[in-house]
Amino acid sequence: MAGVSLFRFYIPGFLKTFTPFATAALLIFTAGTASFAAEPQATPTPEIHRIADIFQPLSRPAELLLEPTHLVLLICLGIFLVVLAVLAYVLIKFRPRGPEDHLEEPPQVYGSYNIEMAWTVIPCLIVFVLVLVSARSIVEIQDRPMPEDALQIRLIGHQWWWEIQYPELGIITANEIHVPVSSKDGKPRPTHIILESADVIHSFWVPQLAGKTDLVPNRVNHTWIEPFKTGVFLGNCAEYCGTQHANMLLRVIVQTPEDFQKWVENQKQLPSEPKDVIAIQGKKDFYDLSCVACHKIDSTPAEGVFGPDLTKFAIRQTLGAGVAANTPENLHAWLFQPDSLKPGCYMPDMKLSPQQLDSLVAYLQTLK
Ligand code: CUA
Repeated sequence: MAGVSLFRFYIPGFLKTFTPFATAALLIFTAGTASFAAEPQATPTPEIHRIADIFQPLSRPAELLLEPTHLVLLICLGIFLVVLAVLAYVLIKFRPRGPEDHLEEPPQVYGSYNIEMAWTVIPCLIVFVLVLVSARSIVEIQDRPMPEDALQIRLIGHQWWWEIQYPELGIITANEIHVPVSSKDGKPRPTHIILESADVIHSFWVPQLAGKTDLVPNRVNHTWIEPFKTGVFLGNCAEYCGTQHANMLLRVIVQTPEDFQKWVENQKQLPSEPKDVIAIQGKKDFYDLSCVACHKIDSTPAEGVFGPDLTKFAIRQTLGAGVAANTPENLHAWLFQPDSLKPGCYMPDMKLSPQQLDSLVAYLQTLK
């Protein structure tokens, strides 16, 4: 009886065990195609590549990874199907055939030289092939020589936002990387990205542009992107880095060379002085309050480096590293209680009065 009841117990048990695996497999398969976070939208912008699909790369390093990705998935699918087929065969072939079935002991088999050789050699060969294919891709991506005129970006991960510096252009911004589009067949115009961290380990990942690369404290990592299409590419921090890891969103805004040049020119100019009375009051409030301790606005006494540079804050699409669209209402909510939009973030609640909120919102909107 034990055998029969054991068997009856195992079938639903197997199904129960299998369900979470199937769900996990489904999640892993859809993760690559998952859309990143809700889409905040302030001003009309170029096409947004909403679905961050690793199977539709639109940049060279991501494209170089597609072939090995397909190969690995294919091999894993093959292994999965073989294991599943053997399991199904055994379950059906050796099912109990009657109440007396358990009384008879099955033939006891020990060892098989051929089978053991097969399941040792075949996996070794598979691993060997995967190592060779991965090594080729790694070398191809890491050793890619960057042309002289490649754009240089220094990307620094902070809890929980991205600092973006263009050392050759003298530009500092946050959370939205602007780069020129490259030509797939013509002259390449890649962007070389130097990755650093100010606190803990973060990871740069814009699925349609490049694979993940970590930003590690006290270490300098490198990656590059070479997008073939203009538009906004959504990315995310891909290494758990604390409470607001999921809201450490990143945008890569790929522009035509002309639009990129216009953006560069604008970034280099100082924002015009506020003219509106409320905004003028806002500027005064900004310097009277502790905003200046953490934020920088070019050519002003605001020299803080703990938070994002706000020199051209108003032309950014989002605030709080992608947590909300950069609209006056959201900015109001953000300054009133940063925690309500991004719980645990390091922007303190300054206990601002309604008048201070209005004037600061008015002033920050002039920074463009
Ligand atoms: Cu930064 Cu996760």
